[in-house]
This record gives sequence, structure tokens and C-alpha cells, in this order.
Amino acid sequence: MTGNIQTIGVIGAGQMGSGIAHVSAIAGYDVLLYDVAPERIEKGLATINGNMARQVSSGKLSEETRKQALGRISAAPTIQGLAGADLVIEAATEDESVKRKIFQQISPILNPEAILATNTSSISITRLAAQTDRPERFIGIHFMNPVPVMKLVELVRGIATGDATFEAARAFAHRLDKTVTVSEDFPAFIVNRILMPMINEAIYTLYEGVGTVEAIDTAMRLGANHPMGPLQLADFIGLDTCLAIMQVLHDGLSDSKYRPCPLLVKYVEAGWLGRKTGRGFYDYRGEHPVPTR
Ligand code: CAA
Repeated sequence: MTGNIQTIGVIGAGQMGSGIAHVSAIAGYDVLLYDVAPERIEKGLATINGNMARQVSSGKLSEETRKQALGRISAAPTIQGLAGADLVIEAATEDESVKRKIFQQISPILNPEAILATNTSSISITRLAAQTDRPERFIGIHFMNPVPVMKLVELVRGIATGDATFEAARAFAHRLDKTVTVSEDFPAFIVNRILMPMINEAIYTLYEGVGTVEAIDTAMRLGANHPMGPLQLADFIGLDTCLAIMQVLHDGLSDSKYRPCPLLVKYVEAGWLGRKTGRGFYDYRGEHPVPTR
């Protein structure tokens, strides 16, 4: 059965959930998009529409494929609307209590054969799987932002994940034209184990006055050939997500080298979460981003 995935349920219509819905629909899957906040589903659908239009204008997608793909995405007004999905991918906030609640709610709704996956960027797959009625059919499928552009998907098995589930997840990622890396189930897996301490260090570099926002980002863009500076990237990912991942690393590995920078904490406390709230290390409310320090 695990080879017969046709309908993908996506929980969470934010930047990751809408990206996952986008690439799944282009790959020919039917997609059901659910969010606790119905207005976020509308916003997510508008984002998908806009990003697909962008791909059409740059010649990456035909107008015909865009129309067909959009036609394959439906809004699920309630979580019960995901009942017919063969694979459900949770892409809610990076908060373990939120995710646990979702898995407790969704498990009894799904077909017993369906696979449950999480797009968590840091939390233990084994621990999340234990909240469900199907740990052997549970897996981490971690996409990168922006999903339509980034080639990588990290696959993470929990202790109980079955081989058939792993193979089905791998086949799904390949059908989306993604390259797979496999990570063991340790805090923040591979990408964020390496990326987040770098971003956190960039924030310490700012906090300690070594450089300004612009100096730090320019240094890493032109000095290390990163497509975005680390502070620009932090704003792009969301500072709340960056902080949540650093906390998972700090708690899970009990090493002070993962201590979240107090300045990152302060920005999150201010509600300056980056691009999505209009302000983070840069202010995005004007025509061009302006550093906030
Ligand atoms: N949907 C579809 N297409 C998109 C897109 C989106 N959301 N965002 C950008 N694009 C396309 C653009 O249309 C453009 O296409 P063409 O080349 O065909 O014109 C292309 O991507 C490049 O975009 P731009 O010209 O607008 O801008 P850019 O060259 O600066 O690239 C970027 C933007 C791809 C985001 C690039 O800056 C980049 O790679 N940044 C780093 C992103 C990154 O590191 N992501 C990983 C974050 S970590 C993560 O996600 C894991 C986690 O758990 C936190």
C-alpha cells in the first residue's frame, strides 16, 4: 500500500506547508491543505498561486501545468477533511506541544495504512511517533525553505520507522525531484545542527559589537559565497523557528555551545520574527530592507 500514495494531506499552511503543497501538486499528487486558522489556508493558496506564476514567468513551469497543479489542491476546512490522505505531512509551528496535539488528533481520523510524517526541523522523530497509533508508519520528511527552489529533503527515521515507510518517503521525495539525505534521529538532524549554530554565532557577533547587521551579512555573502547573509537568512527562516531549534539543540545535547544568543531571545520576545512579521534584523516595511541595528 505504501507505494500507492496519491493524496497528500498537509497540516499547516504557512511558508513550509504551502511550499510542500505546491511541489506535491506539481508532481501530480492530489493535495488537501489544512490549517487551524482558516484565513491561513486562503493566504497559503494565494502564496502558492503567486509562486507558481513566478515559475511560469521564468519558464520553469508551463501555464497548463500551473493550472492543473492548482486544480489538484483543495482546502480542508477541518482536520477530518484529511481522512482520505495516503500521506499526511505536518508542517505546523516548531513547538513540540503543538505537534503532539496534532498527532493525537489526526491519528484516529486516518486510514490505518496511511503514513504520517513531520516536517520538524529539530524535534525527535521517535518522541513524536510515540504520540501516534502508528510509529512504524511515522517518519521525518524535512524540506528546506523555499521548498519549490531548494533541492534537498532530509529523511529521518524514528526508532520504530518501518522499511516500507522509509522507502515510500524516499519515492515521494524523488517524485518531487528532490535529492534525499538521510539523518539519524538526533536533535536538529544534519542541516540545522550545522546551520543554526552558525546563525546563532552571527547573532552573537552582532550582540558583542564585532560588526553591524550589514557588515556581518556582507562578510558571509561575499567572503564565504553564501547566497544570503546569516542574519538575512535568519529573518527568512523566522527568528521564532531559529530560537526553537537552538533550544532543542541546547536541551537535547546539554552543551553550552548551543546557548541561544540573548539578542535572538529579545527579538522573539518583541515579536520581531523576521520577514513574516515585517521586522527582524531588517525592517521590511519600506521599499528596501533596512537593518534594525
Ligand atoms: N517559489 C518559487 N520560486 C521561487 C521562490 C518561491 N518561494 N523563491 C525564489 N524563487 C525563484 C525565483 O523565481 C528565481 O527563479 P529564476 O532563477 O528562474 O528567476 C530563483 O528562485 C532565485 O530567486 P531570486 O532571483 O528572487 O532571488 P535569489 O537569487 O536571491 O534567490 C533564494 C533566492 C533561492 C531564496 C536564495 O537567496 C537562497 O538560496 N537563499 C538561501 C536559502 C536557504 O539557505 N534555505 C535553507 C534555509 S534552512 C531551512 O529551510 C531548514 C530549516 O529547517 C530552518
